[in-house]
Amino acid sequence: MKIELLKLIYFSPTGTTKQVVERIAQGITHGAMEIIDITKPEGRKQKLETSKNELLIIGVPVYFGRAQTNALDWLDTIKAHNTPAVCVVVYGNREYDDALLELKDTTIKRGCRPIACAAYIGEHSFSNSEAPIAVGRPDAADLTHAQQFGEKIGKKILSVQSIDEIPNITVPGKYPYVDMIDSKKRLSALEFITVDQGCLQCGVCAQSCPVGAIDSENSASINKGECILCHACIKACPENARRINNDMLKNIALRLSQTCQARKEPMLFL
Ligand SMILES: Cc1cc2nc3c(=O)[nH]c(=O)nc-3n(C[C@H](O)[C@H](O)[C@H](O)COP(=O)(O)O)c2cc1C
Repeated sequence: MKIELLKLIYFSPTGTTKQVVERIAQGITHGAMEIIDITKPEGRKQKLETSKNELLIIGVPVYFGRAQTNALDWLDTIKAHNTPAVCVVVYGNREYDDALLELKDTTIKRGCRPIACAAYIGEHSFSNSEAPIAVGRPDAADLTHAQQFGEKIGKKILSVQSIDEIPNITVPGKYPYVDMIDSKKRLSALEFITVDQGCLQCGVCAQSCPVGAIDSENSASINKGECILCHACIKACPENARRINNDMLKNIALRLSQTCQARKEPMLFL
């Protein structure tokens, strides 16, 4: 099968999904590369219709056991024409539940043909010094693994004449997909970030927000209805002036840091 262009598509507020997708692409040595970063609202304004001889490498983080909603909504608008795709979810060492199945199903619905799928581990967005969760993931071993996954995909592409020779890939997950709407609603309603005097109103937090929920003139003003709890603004703040100040969220992070200590390893399906 001939591939001339790799399209790397990712939604990655805290950067772990981006790292994994880029390393997978490095391992696939066919064709040129194009990046479609759909993390920011501007990125999700672009439309995608695939052409011949393209391979999509799609990376989405796991939120509440599902593929992150803003990313999935955008993916649900693409037009693909029997286009080979690699589906990747990145999760914070708890579980990925039905996220990979949901991502795979959505890409098929839009005309893609998944030829390989994977779940990788990234430092949990809620991780901090008091509640460390999967700190430093993906680490060097994960990234080597991702590159080798790319090499396997490259070999698979060479081994077939046409996409029709590649059978359906089975991934874990079940129907109906896990429904965590209650916890999503409960958490989204929280007043959870405080901004201390260290804040210089530089605007980096507003720029880092994937849903435009922070006022660029007043960093403490957050639209709670829009906020997706991604923690990008906290991690991006150059003055370290943004903190979680909500007991419920702090307790969730503490509980995760205790219950999700055992290192999970990447899983491949190809
Ligand atoms: C709101 C929210 C919900 C999350 N839910 C899960 C989950 O169900 N399971 C899990 O293992 N990690 C979960 N995570 C952690 C992310 O999947 C993980 O940190 C991922 O690496 C973030 O990707 P990014 O760095 O590309 O933003 C969640 C993170 C957020 C912000």
